[in-house]
Amino acid sequence: MSDSDTISTSIPDMGAAYHDPLVQDAGHGLTGPGGALHRYAIRPEGYRLGDEDFITGSWRLRRQPRYTRAEHGRWRLLFENQRRMLPDRACKDFMTGFGRLEHLFRDGIPSFDDINAILEPATGWTVVPAPELIPDNIFFWHLENRRFPAGAFIRGGQPQTPKVIRANKGCAPEHVEYTAVEDDLFYLQEPDIFHDIFGHTPMLMNPFFADYIQAYGAGGRRAITFNRLKNFGAIYWYTVEFGLIEEEGALRVYGAGILSSPDETLFSLYSDSPHRIRMTPERVMRTDYVISDFQDTYFVVDSIKALYESTAGRDFTPIYEKLPAGFTYATTALLDTDVVVTEGRQVYKFCGGKGRPRARVHMEKLRAAHAR
Ligand code: CO
Repeated sequence: MSDSDTISTSIPDMGAAYHDPLVQDAGHGLTGPGGALHRYAIRPEGYRLGDEDFITGSWRLRRQPRYTRAEHGRWRLLFENQRRMLPDRACKDFMTGFGRLEHLFRDGIPSFDDINAILEPATGWTVVPAPELIPDNIFFWHLENRRFPAGAFIRGGQPQTPKVIRANKGCAPEHVEYTAVEDDLFYLQEPDIFHDIFGHTPMLMNPFFADYIQAYGAGGRRAITFNRLKNFGAIYWYTVEFGLIEEEGALRVYGAGILSSPDETLFSLYSDSPHRIRMTPERVMRTDYVISDFQDTYFVVDSIKALYESTAGRDFTPIYEKLPAGFTYATTALLDTDVVVTEGRQVYKFCGGKGRPRARVHMEKLRAAHAR
């Protein structure tokens, strides 16, 4: 599908419901904490963008910025490290897509045009440069039209550690053992170009996943109408970003949030702390999630096709009618109705998580046990 035969060419009117503050997900607002305009204003290098750089009203940039040598260096550092994490951890569909794109990722920040030359013929998707996290309705509209908005900037503009300072001088690629979750380069809350391109584009090469995300975009509008955007957002969070899959009896990762983080790749697969539960949309839509640390619960699907059929092929109206706004279940909940894959001990969670001495020891053990 090309831009010319997409189903809508302008941002749809989402109706009055969208402007209800109860409907908006706080994390996706424009000017609040973590909001797009706030972060856009503090972007460190190369992002002095003016109005003329935006395509009017669509929250996308006309082109990628020109990246500095240091920015390409940081990409190479991230790429070299995370590429080694993937075999036997990322799912087969991810590895297949990754295999077709990898040559574009080796030499620094890739060009979206080069990626689209492979992605668009495969599944009709394109990636488009976005300045930051963009508002929900515009995000949904892009997805519905098989455009994936990808952050145009790269993390780590204010390096804190020697390895990042070396990468900025062009000393990457080199394999460096990451040593701490608080390293400014390897933990990231906001999606940047490395997360969006490395993490998301390989799965967009898969036909079922490509349809799944498009259907997700289309469903966003209905969720807004029913004032259940937060619940609906949990589906994206627990599948597209943090989803696990069972393949031939072993757990693998398909979620982009996990696959762009070396520590969460290990934590999600090997830690005895989090729960792992079979994914159902009803359960996921009632479940809170963690935005500033690893997940306390991961949801597991049998196949991408099954994920597609359990969500995209269904009308959520009957669920929305029963669902209270907001979340019913804590991130650590286990229910009698859950089909449990592994019951977690939640030791990482209950010691306080990221930055706590016991959490650090927990991760050091995992890294040592699964070092490559
Ligand atoms: Co993402």
